[in-house]
Amino acid sequence: MVITDMKEEYGIIEDREPILIISGLHKRYSEGKSNEVHAIRGLDLTVRKGDMMAIMGPSGCGKTTLLNMIGHLDRRSEGKIIIDNIDTSRLSDGKMTSFRRDKIGFIFQLFNLFPFLSAVENVETPLLLKGIKAGVAREQAKMLLRELGMGDRLYHLPSELSGGQQQRVAVARALITDPAIILGDEPTGDLDSTTSTDVMKLFRRINQINQQTLVLVTHNRWIAEQCDYIVHMTDGKISHFEQGPFNKEENAK
Ligand SMILES: Nc1ncnc2c1ncn2[C@@H]1O[C@H](COP(=O)(O)OP(=O)(O)OP(=O)(O)O)[C@@H](O)[C@H]1O
Ligand SMILES: [Mg+2]
Repeated sequence: MVITDMKEEYGIIEDREPILIISGLHKRYSEGKSNEVHAIRGLDLTVRKGDMMAIMGPSGCGKTTLLNMIGHLDRRSEGKIIIDNIDTSRLSDGKMTSFRRDKIGFIFQLFNLFPFLSAVENVETPLLLKGIKAGVAREQAKMLLRELGMGDRLYHLPSELSGGQQQRVAVARALITDPAIILGDEPTGDLDSTTSTDVMKLFRRINQINQQTLVLVTHNRWIAEQCDYIVHMTDGKISHFEQGPFNKEENAK
């Protein structure tokens, strides 16, 4: 089922440009072998610029696999993915690396921080890779970390930070390049509820100010309800779709 069709069915008018179009996506692990797993089974999805979307579904239904396909961390078996008007199947390996760096921000369950770099160095690295001057990159990284309540931990190594603090560094690192899409796999998974709330508020603020598109996988209904809509997956496909706003009064607090 195509999500735009579902939105029409729900009477939602769409005027923003699509930032991500997925059609006929399949992923088979160990393809052709006896242990083949058909993890994504013909999935269509359109996400528009400025959408803040949650993906929910039972363990093993293919959520991480889908994020890995969108983030181009792994090859798809079949199907088309268009991000920011670029058909990614046409990118060479070299172009794919810069495409991933410039267009996608990742926040994964394991934060993948560089262990020998301080918090601020971790956050500024994507800017330096883009060729931004060191002084400017440092200032931007500091600003963002301060916004996330990490002003007094700028020069700590990941091993000197709590799980929640490491997660905030990972969030800052994903946000700093202003990517076309931010992908989060349980981005608030290890955070206490206060910090989760702060991170979700920050996501929402960046979403509203910059029209930043966010695709967040979560098992947590409350986190999902902070998004504009929820896409439910079962068995490698989208099963249904829920349109927000959810709990409007609570969100207003
Ligand atoms: N590298 C791999 N090789 C083979 N099979 C895999 C691989 N990664 C995932 N799978 C299988 O693909 C299916 C989808 O896995 P995926 O990690 O996408 O699930 P998920 O929805 O993210 O689950 P969870 O909520 O537990 O994180 C599962 O059946 C899983 O066992
Ligand atoms: Mg997963």
